[in-house]
Amino acid sequence: VSTLPAAAIDPPQPVDPAFTAALADVARGVEALLDHLLPVPAGGEARLVHAMRDAVLPGGKRLRAFLVVSGGAMLGVPVERSLRAAAAVEMLHAYALVHDDLPAMDDAQTRRGRPALHLAYDEATAILAGDALLTESFAILADPATHPDPAVRIALIARLTAASGTSGMAGGQVLDLGAADSDVGETDLRRLQDMKTGALLAWSAASGALLAEAPQPQVQALDEFGRWLGWAFQIADDLLDLEGDPAQVGKPLGRDDALGKATLAGLRGPDSARGESWRAVTEALGCLDLFGQKADLLRSAASFAALRRN
Ligand code: IPE
Ligand code: IPE
Ligand code: MG
Ligand code: MG
Ligand code: MG
Repeated sequence: VSTLPAAAIDPPQPVDPAFTAALADVARGVEALLDHLLPVPAGGEARLVHAMRDAVLPGGKRLRAFLVVSGGAMLGVPVERSLRAAAAVEMLHAYALVHDDLPAMDDAQTRRGRPALHLAYDEATAILAGDALLTESFAILADPATHPDPAVRIALIARLTAASGTSGMAGGQVLDLGAADSDVGETDLRRLQDMKTGALLAWSAASGALLAEAPQPQVQALDEFGRWLGWAFQIADDLLDLEGDPAQVGKPLGRDDALGKATLAGLRGPDSARGESWRAVTEALGCLDLFGQKADLLRSAASFAALRRN
């Protein structure tokens, strides 16, 4: 196992207050839209929609939404459109969290500072709420209000299936479960985490460029930015599981160790893992050079991914 001296790598720039304000702004916007997109119906399915709302509405950091809206704003996308793509990815992400917490997976009792959905309702409702959040996320992208050009909508949908299916989040989650028992090296771990976490963050960053119908190199640069950010983000997640403040994190700590999960902090030790997360931020920043100062809020998002306390 290679060990990188953390001191050899500079920590990222502290998060800019302008980013904190912009993130809060996106959170407000996407939560208002999610509230509008998930009306509670009159029939017996109301319980399902209540569970979906409880999964997606309270308490997320909204980093994925931020990447969509901020990347889009930088390239001139109207916020009404980018917020819809942001709502779609937040719904899909919420589904991933609900299923991740199930007894058959991480068996976690809390999420976002509240009881996990399968405890607030029951397992069957949590499974179905996840299913419906996943499915409805694609309906939002398919709606012409997201973009008038069907080719753009199809590109968003096709990329989201890749980011969340066998080659993305779900594939990464199955590797993550298997990794509990086997010997996983850094190359395997990097691939696993890129699939389970990086792919959805890359979709989020690239979708602003898709909505802008930007040239392919810009789509590609934002996708790679999201992947490096994702690597930093998951290393930070694993460090929080190991040494976070329980009052801030909002989910049970020590689960990775209890479940024998492969993490970079486990392979290298926390200090070297932190150093690698800082290196990932530097790589992420390098992907933004072609956008100049317009990308400053995205640069702060990369710092946030590594330095966050929750
Ligand atoms: C948690 O994601 C799951 C991981 C991919 C590590 P977030 O930390 O973005 O969760 P919320 O949306 O802010 O609750
Ligand atoms: C899960 O990773 C990532 C997902 C695809 C949901 P973790 O299992 O580490 O996420 P947390 O720590 O429960 O949020
Ligand atoms: Mg998990
Ligand atoms: Mg988990
Ligand atoms: Mg975790």
